[in-house]
Amino acid sequence: MHSQQELTKIVNDALQQIKMNPNVDRLYQPIRYAIDNGGKRIRPVLMLMAYNLYRDDISRIINNALAMEVYHNFTLLHDDVMDKAEMRRGKPCVHVKWDENTAILSGDTMLAMAYRLMSENDDFFNEKDVSLAQYQAMRDATATFNQATIGVCEGQQLDMDFEAMDDVAEEQYMEMIRLKTSLLLSCSLKIGAQLACASQEDCDLLYTFGEKIGLAFQLQDDLLDVYGDPKVFGKNIGGDIVENKKTFMLIKALESADSTSRELLEQWIAKKEFDRQQKIDAVTYIYNVCDIRAVCEKKIETLFEEGMDALARLNVEEEKKEPLRGFAMNLMKRNS
Ligand code: IPE
Ligand code: IPE
Ligand code: MG
Ligand code: MG
Ligand code: MG
Repeated sequence: MHSQQELTKIVNDALQQIKMNPNVDRLYQPIRYAIDNGGKRIRPVLMLMAYNLYRDDISRIINNALAMEVYHNFTLLHDDVMDKAEMRRGKPCVHVKWDENTAILSGDTMLAMAYRLMSENDDFFNEKDVSLAQYQAMRDATATFNQATIGVCEGQQLDMDFEAMDDVAEEQYMEMIRLKTSLLLSCSLKIGAQLACASQEDCDLLYTFGEKIGLAFQLQDDLLDVYGDPKVFGKNIGGDIVENKKTFMLIKALESADSTSRELLEQWIAKKEFDRQQKIDAVTYIYNVCDIRAVCEKKIETLFEEGMDALARLNVEEEKKEPLRGFAMNLMKRNS
């Protein structure tokens, strides 16, 4: 079994090896910048961990794991334009360091690179006795990848639609984050299991584990967007408040605030012109009054436990689950 540390290093080293055409530096420089700029490498590591539950030869699926990471980084380039964000991983976003056109085209290229990594993985078939089962596994994994990549775009659209809506329900929010965030985690795990030719039941359990952890992960991201330390979080604090993102916290605050606080919140949401910091402070103050942080943390814990239940039901020796269990626990404690 490989540890989280080992797998992260394997992913980082392999990312360095991705070839980019030096003749079109202006296209690839921002891609290198985005990919080299740190990042927790959650998705590829989850994929490798899932595969490693069943098989040792993880080098065969490195390209599939990279596909997920490159796709994820593509979404970040576009997401930062859409969210008008300025900082990512402690550095200026690509659209700030260069411009929006760069974020669009370099992002598009990363999407295509992700598909190339996913579909042109010779390492997977590089054996003397390639079986039909292996081809089927790759086909199934590719279908899962397609489900994830399209789903993320659907989630991103809902996220933007919700900015302009004032009656988003908790269930709508949960479905939106399932699409925009959870899918990449659940599908990374499922792809790892599919490529290892695991049983359908295990593929589904790993998917559920990733789905629950992914939901908790986005709730934590929303929480850190209000309460995080910008130096550690690497993103500016309060962006979600400024953009009227319908986060779990805002939905719960609108639900539980007394009429005065709710009116205040609604006024801030409706304001077209405002001082950025004033709005962040005012909304955060109402969150504090409503103890929204505790409500959010409770939800994160419930989702985490639901994820752990799915992992517990996996038909694999308990000790083999340790890296995934530890990984999920670290993720819940994260502040970056
Ligand atoms: C950021 O994802 C986008 C969300 C889904 C919240 P990560 O927090 O995994 O970003 P990096 O890759 O580690 O920077
Ligand atoms: C992340 O949502 C979803 C995707 C990037 C697909 P956020 O917009 O909350 O992510 P951050 O906070 O910018 O990383
Ligand atoms: Mg964003
Ligand atoms: Mg966003
Ligand atoms: Mg966020």
